[in-house]
Amino acid sequence: MLLPSLFGLATMASSCLAASLQQVWNFGSNPTNINMHIYVPDRLANKPPIIVALHPCGGNAQQWFSGTRLPQYADRHGFILIYPSTPHMSNCWDVQNPASLTHGAGGDALGIVSMVNYAIDRYGADRDRVYVMGFSSGGMMTNVLAGSYPDVFEAGAAYSGVPHACFLGAPAATPFSPNQTCAQGLQKTPEEWGNLVRNSYPGYNGRRPRMQITHGLNDWLVRPQCAYESLKQWSNVLGLQLTRQVTSGQWTQHIYGDGTKLVGYLGQGIGHEPAVNEEQLLRFFGIIN
Ligand SMILES: *[C@@H]1O[C@H](CO)[C@@H](O)[C@H](O)[C@H]1NC(C)=O
Repeated sequence: MLLPSLFGLATMASSCLAASLQQVWNFGSNPTNINMHIYVPDRLANKPPIIVALHPCGGNAQQWFSGTRLPQYADRHGFILIYPSTPHMSNCWDVQNPASLTHGAGGDALGIVSMVNYAIDRYGADRDRVYVMGFSSGGMMTNVLAGSYPDVFEAGAAYSGVPHACFLGAPAATPFSPNQTCAQGLQKTPEEWGNLVRNSYPGYNGRRPRMQITHGLNDWLVRPQCAYESLKQWSNVLGLQLTRQVTSGQWTQHIYGDGTKLVGYLGQGIGHEPAVNEEQLLRFFGIIN
């Protein structure tokens, strides 16, 4: 009986097991000592795009690797996935840290940008097609990276996050922090939110990341108002107005301008959960048609 079972294993290995999630050491400047994992599919596209995928509080690389179907899409379309992880502050990203909220100043944000540069150098990835997505704390960090590193990320997608710099002035951005003003829906004017982004990289006049903001309307941990505030922020930064809303099932799409640079998805009956529609996300990024 040994041979047939060995044969079974070998067959399985050739038919379903693709590349695996790998830890990378020494990827460059890493001031907060965060960790890097990478998923490089067996069949890599020529000059592959990169998606940085950011876990929620309490998560890690392996958990978020299993948390969406992006790895299966990477196998099919040949893009690279980077899974950063933080062991600090209940595994929450340092989105309140002035260093992460300033271009080139440090924090988790700088370590993540080092991972991107490492992957570009090591795999000949496309510097013009680097994307970031994340859920909850990862969604918050998505907005932080888009604000502090507009030169690195072509587009971002924040799920259940908060605006860039929303936690600035709070001691930490964890569910256990005494100050939840931001997550409870801190409101500012579009101009004030926009200034927080512009002040993160003074003098920068280049292209700004295209943004997709997704949030459940039944989210009591990170209130849906945070999504409306994020949309106010990016509409100000990108200079776009709300043009129309389209409802399909539970989701209402908020389209700014022609919808290629800024779009919101607000979900009726959706709580604090990673409602990632991979195909729709990859279309927004421009990785699939
Ligand atoms: C709470 O955090 C917000 C930012 O999210 C900040 O503006 C405010 O000053 C903080 N409140 C206190 C009492 O520290």
